[in-house]
Amino acid sequence: MRKRVPQPREAVLRMRPYSPPTEGRADKLRLDFNENTVGCSPRVIEFLQQRLDANRLATYPEYSEAKQELAAFFGVEHDEMLLTNGTDEAIQVLINTYVDDGDDVIILRPSYAMYRFYAEVAGAAIREIDYRSERLAFPLDELLLALRPNTRAILISNPNNPTGTAVSIEGIERILRRAPNAAVMVDEAYYEFCGITAIRHLGQYPNLFVSRTFSKLYGMAGMRLGCLFSQAENLASVHKAQSPYSVNILAAMAARAAVRDTAYISRYVTEVLAARELAYVSLEKLGIPYYRSQGNFVLLRIGERALEVRDRLREAGVLVRERTYELPGCVRVTVGTRDQMRRFLAELERIWK
Ligand SMILES: Cc1ncc(COP(=O)(O)O)c(C=O)c1O
Repeated sequence: MRKRVPQPREAVLRMRPYSPPTEGRADKLRLDFNENTVGCSPRVIEFLQQRLDANRLATYPEYSEAKQELAAFFGVEHDEMLLTNGTDEAIQVLINTYVDDGDDVIILRPSYAMYRFYAEVAGAAIREIDYRSERLAFPLDELLLALRPNTRAILISNPNNPTGTAVSIEGIERILRRAPNAAVMVDEAYYEFCGITAIRHLGQYPNLFVSRTFSKLYGMAGMRLGCLFSQAENLASVHKAQSPYSVNILAAMAARAAVRDTAYISRYVTEVLAARELAYVSLEKLGIPYYRSQGNFVLLRIGERALEVRDRLREAGVLVRERTYELPGCVRVTVGTRDQMRRFLAELERIWK
């Protein structure tokens, strides 16, 4: 007899499992998840060591100190910012707050997988707008044309993972003006490598949501901390849909130390930008086409050998991410330090020849 189990919701039955390759990465050069490749500021570790004690761990987290310091750092009022368990939770609570079963949600393709993931869980009617085939540019006109009065949410990664391309603030503003009924989320996970931000426009647009993360530049992906910004009234609603202790106390503490070490952060950004230029030069020498990026990663058009190259790099201890399922022949490589890129490029050259 078949075992009887509870029947999942239709929306969940329709989903394909999503399991990024997160295991067994510890001793490899991690150029596969766009993380900080050298780790967080040593001040973060010191701060945690000084402040952490059994009593603090025994207590449910309190966020007021962290919220105050982070709001000041980001230049917003404390009620214009919500701490979240990574950007992923920001996406989830935004969708839970604004999107019902069957609602119209617009995302771009290819883009960060979790937009589709949470929209699917919610049972949304998802429409995907393709990045332009020409240089994978942001499809602004196509997106504006696709807007409907009943569009409930639009999720944009700026700059976009995995294409590395970005839309200007003027472009974002056109979307905001044309979609007054939609929650427009601008995910700025890679902001620091690009410099374009919509945060300064929160006051002007009641439909704007911006997210930032501590997973990339700040080197704290394992902590799971993100921030969602919007007008206070919006965040009061989103907060109602969020579990009260989803951010753990270590993350809330660590973020304060992370934003204080501005020298460490700006040094890393400068290093990555130099390493990205170095990578471009070598890729051109090798004759491997790539897309110019505004993030700490570059998309390479390897062609038919994409999976072989990914596998042989892994054998050499270098992890990169294949994207052939959405961009034929493409592999995405995280940009780390110049030394790390030299190692990657040397292995790539060896394999390529
Ligand atoms: C565009 C984008 N947003 C968010 C994330 C993940 O952020 P978090 O670790 O804060 O959930 C990623 C990670 O790859 C990303 O590429």
